[in-house]
Amino acid sequence: MHTRILTGITTTGTPHLGNYVGAIRPAIAASRRADVDAFYFMADYHALIKCGDAARVERSRLEIAATWLAAGLDPQRVTFYRQSDIPEIPQLTWFLACVASKGMLNRAHAYKAAMDRNAEVGEDSDAGVTAGLYMYPVLMAADILAFDANQVPVGRDQIQHIEMARDLAQRFNHLHDHEYFVLPEALIEDQVATLPGLDGRKMSKSYDNTIPLFAGGSKALREAITRIVTDSRAPGEPKDADASALFTIYRAFAGDAESAAFRQALLGGMGWGDAKQALYERVEVDVAPMRERYESFMSDPAAIEAILLEGAHKARAIASPKIAALRDVLGLRPFGAVGVAASRPRMVKAGKLPHFASFRDVDGRFRFRLLSAQGDELLLSVAFADPKTAGGVQKRLKTLGAAAAVVQIQPRGMALELDGEAVANTPEYLDEPTRDAALASLRAALDQLAGRD
Ligand code: TRP
Repeated sequence: MHTRILTGITTTGTPHLGNYVGAIRPAIAASRRADVDAFYFMADYHALIKCGDAARVERSRLEIAATWLAAGLDPQRVTFYRQSDIPEIPQLTWFLACVASKGMLNRAHAYKAAMDRNAEVGEDSDAGVTAGLYMYPVLMAADILAFDANQVPVGRDQIQHIEMARDLAQRFNHLHDHEYFVLPEALIEDQVATLPGLDGRKMSKSYDNTIPLFAGGSKALREAITRIVTDSRAPGEPKDADASALFTIYRAFAGDAESAAFRQALLGGMGWGDAKQALYERVEVDVAPMRERYESFMSDPAAIEAILLEGAHKARAIASPKIAALRDVLGLRPFGAVGVAASRPRMVKAGKLPHFASFRDVDGRFRFRLLSAQGDELLLSVAFADPKTAGGVQKRLKTLGAAAAVVQIQPRGMALELDGEAVANTPEYLDEPTRDAALASLRAALDQLAGRD
């Protein structure tokens, strides 16, 4: 079974070393796995939310496309495209907007942060907030759901958006009683290093502490590296590799043996100047060949254009029949074409029984969801240290059914207790006055599970 992995890159900036190590490199590695079907795209509609500077958006999407290709993305293997080349995405955005609750969107972090900033300066809470920002999670859900993505590699700040995409998928599936959409999971890679920037904080455009990946060539790379903050230890004094951003960056490029040697050298008193030179040389080993490809792509935008149009063509081959089926179910079929419904792609009906779905969470711990027969999320478990414990709890619930569970009513939902311990909660934003109904479906689901294996 192939896992479809999908992720988008907002096209507002110029890629830096942190983007490469944290997102580009692992995504390309994942795309090479035999069991993965990768969809990577330029989220240039999302860029419009943050940035009204057309020239910057235009430059950024070219640079980002060239960067991914130079870094080894194989467009034969990966479906690589621009969001704005897929008209099905804004169509789906609207279909999803019509099932999205405003209350859910009110809780989106980006929108809340904008409101908080306004409150701080005594402005009207919605001052400067566009409907685009407010709808950001719906557009992102459409990006994901149009292609039935299973896993979505994102930073931690995006987890809430993936949860909302799940929620919208569930709502739609439930309303129309078919599994129209696959429920996506956020994929947070623990192995992947978050690079520190020049000042030791996380490397980020918003901190203005980035090291460019290709921009400015090797000269700019070297210059940035010399500006990495170090302590004031002189050459000859032993240095603590683990306390140094320089070492963390080195390790993101070098293998274990090389890193160990570098650590030893620092401990042995290597000066910071020499250490920076060594770091520059090591990064350059990986970056120089990519930079050469980058330059050649940048000087041939028509070649990139052709690659992206080909990618859009592949992507639309999937999204377009899906949208056609959705239009049909929503009542938007051509007049007189009543029979079309019968010929639409058959959707697999959700499993008739409630079931558990296990997954690994952002901290590498183990959780499960209890899904109703219709695919609605009834419970999200607490995090368990190992899959065995998580499995054990599922088993107990299956054995005992609703009788085993004490359900604690809380202001924002419910918590399920087993043997005196909280083991699961209803989804956080299930805080509508539907609690009684939710409790009834939860009990029913647990009872349906009871006694089965
Ligand atoms: N919002 C994402 C970010 O800023 C970018 C993005 C847009 C995305 N659409 C997506 C990521 C769909 C994953 C899936 O990082």
